[in-house]
Amino acid sequence: MNYRHAFHAGNFADVLKHALLARVLTYMIAKPAPLRFVDTHAGLGVYDLASDEATRTGEWRDGIARVAAAPRPPELAEVLAPYLAAVGPAGADGLWRCYPGSPAVAQWVLRPEDRLTLCELHPDDAAALKREIGGDKRVRVMASDGYAALNAVLPPPERRGLVLIDPPFEKTDEFDRLLAALLRAHAKWPTGSYMVWYPLKNRAAVGRFAAGLAGSGMKRVLQVHLLVGDPDAGPLAGSGLAFVNPPYTLKAEAEALLPWLAAVMGRPGQPTEWTVRWLAGE
Ligand SMILES: C[S@@+](CC[C@H](N)C(=O)[O-])C[C@H]1O[C@@H](n2cnc3c(N)ncnc32)[C@H](O)[C@@H]1O
Repeated sequence: MNYRHAFHAGNFADVLKHALLARVLTYMIAKPAPLRFVDTHAGLGVYDLASDEATRTGEWRDGIARVAAAPRPPELAEVLAPYLAAVGPAGADGLWRCYPGSPAVAQWVLRPEDRLTLCELHPDDAAALKREIGGDKRVRVMASDGYAALNAVLPPPERRGLVLIDPPFEKTDEFDRLLAALLRAHAKWPTGSYMVWYPLKNRAAVGRFAAGLAGSGMKRVLQVHLLVGDPDAGPLAGSGLAFVNPPYTLKAEAEALLPWLAAVMGRPGQPTEWTVRWLAGE
């Protein structure tokens, strides 16, 4: 396990993932019944953007820093509000002392009656996650394999909630493992909502994954893709999200948000591209 998310915290892919995560959870808490958030690959929880790792890549400068500084069209204010509130304002030096990972975004949005189950396999990261947010009574941190944990924690007692699957894609068979885990989880808990992240790097693998989702029998699957540059020109330029049983409002909100994110985070001189479409249902 070499992947360290600290190098990438707050980059274009985190912005898209965390903005839509905050939005989905905000929609879900409009109903009074408590819910469960399960994060299978939780990471550190909170990232120091002045750390050695974040400073070395500076990826956040073309992600959260651009989004926070850009003038926002009024029609996106509501869509972006929970994410930007979770991030908070930059300091006077233009730096954030901390950038929230998915556990901290969820922790910010959710209510006292909701619960968070966070899995992180890397022992150092699991310890950091526990230190950062494990003191919150709503939070349970599991230092274990997130795919395996899904079997144990689903369906949650609340019978409503969101599962985020956000693996590091270090292994060549990660798409296969991800799809298999998602289908197992969905079979155990078909009414749950799911959100999965993947890189847009290998077109054939992404196409096979999309075909697997479309032909899986799951009834409502929304695909969201954002390319901020040329996918063949070096560093990761695109990320995808697939949502199973998303809120009914998500497609229209993503269609409003994606062109703006593409314009704000696009790499100079490179093409940008975005897609929002149903792979199954609707
Ligand atoms: C992309 S990062 C997670 C980022 C986080 N979800 C966020 O948005 O802030 C992936 C994390 O998964 C962890 N990891 C790798 N394999 C794992 C596994 N099998 N189960 C749980 N965590 C794993 C890595 O150590 C890494 O911290």
